[in-house]
Amino acid sequence: MPDQSFEKELLERAAHIEDVLKKFLPKEEGYAKICIEAMNYSLLAGGKRLRPVMMLEAYRLFSENADETVVEPFLAAIEMIHTYSLVHDDLPCMDNDEYRRGRKTTHAVYGAGMATLAGDGLLNFAFETAVKGAMSAGELPDYDGANKNRFLSALDVLATKAGIYGMVGGQCADIMAENADLGSDEMKDVLSYIDENKTGALIESSLMIGAILGGAADKQVKMIEKAGSNVGIAFQIQDDILDIVGNQEELGKPVGSDEKNNKTTYVSLYGMENAKNKVKELSDEASAILAELGFDGSFLDKLFEYLIYRNK
Ligand code: IPE
Ligand code: IPE
Ligand code: MG
Ligand code: MG
Ligand code: MG
Repeated sequence: MPDQSFEKELLERAAHIEDVLKKFLPKEEGYAKICIEAMNYSLLAGGKRLRPVMMLEAYRLFSENADETVVEPFLAAIEMIHTYSLVHDDLPCMDNDEYRRGRKTTHAVYGAGMATLAGDGLLNFAFETAVKGAMSAGELPDYDGANKNRFLSALDVLATKAGIYGMVGGQCADIMAENADLGSDEMKDVLSYIDENKTGALIESSLMIGAILGGAADKQVKMIEKAGSNVGIAFQIQDDILDIVGNQEELGKPVGSDEKNNKTTYVSLYGMENAKNKVKELSDEASAILAELGFDGSFLDKLFEYLIYRNK
């Protein structure tokens, strides 16, 4: 079990992310003010900030210099994309949930129309933030991946993993599976696709962007992508476990949402014990990849372990 000093460090890192995020918030002014308020309401509601924490740590592990200003717009961007995914996920037409991050959901406060637009606004603002950050930064050394420019490669990952070949794709299958009449083998395939994409993709993206901007080689980025996939799937399975055995006060969101919505989850298909074992197995695989990269015992490694036992 992770120690208290780790938990303290995680909170400090989340607080640092909070400070970075505040530098990039949209200003609440003009005729769209109410929508911007709704964007900031959901962004500043707390949240564990795990994706930017992971991105910054990946950047630090690979980086040859201490300048973190190049990664900061991307830290804010990934949290904006993640937050938009939650705002939309909670909408009446999706999971129809009333609480998020310990407060009323965005649609419960601002109405479904404004919450939809706040989500759209956050998604777009994420790219405005990352692109402007990339344009204002100086040149970085080449990356040996698909595109030599590190910023373009990072933007490519940010875009692709958030979209239909990533998070949006996973959310589509998640909704489709509510009423699908599939055989159990096919359902298992669909579930892997759901977990890998709706949750794995943004976690992969976080680690990959940190690595790319930090100066990792293409081969290392592919390894960190695989570690992110393992941890992301484990994270979703643990989320599904907590939807049954957690409590709203600690989670800041309702329990029983999956049953209410007839969701297919790792727990509903394989049972609670298998789900717990799978979380551990996938997280251990991710740690093994970190060890191969020479990062065993790092903060990231400890975070992967911590997430196995999280209760919020
Ligand atoms: C919740 O993510 C949605 C899932 C992908 C399971 P988090 O548990 O990271 O939510 P916040 O950001 O801390 O609110
Ligand atoms: C959603 O999974 C993951 C997203 C892409 C938002 P869930 O629907 O299980 O997430 P929670 O439990 O509402 O946070
Ligand atoms: Mg959902
Ligand atoms: Mg949900
Ligand atoms: Mg859930």
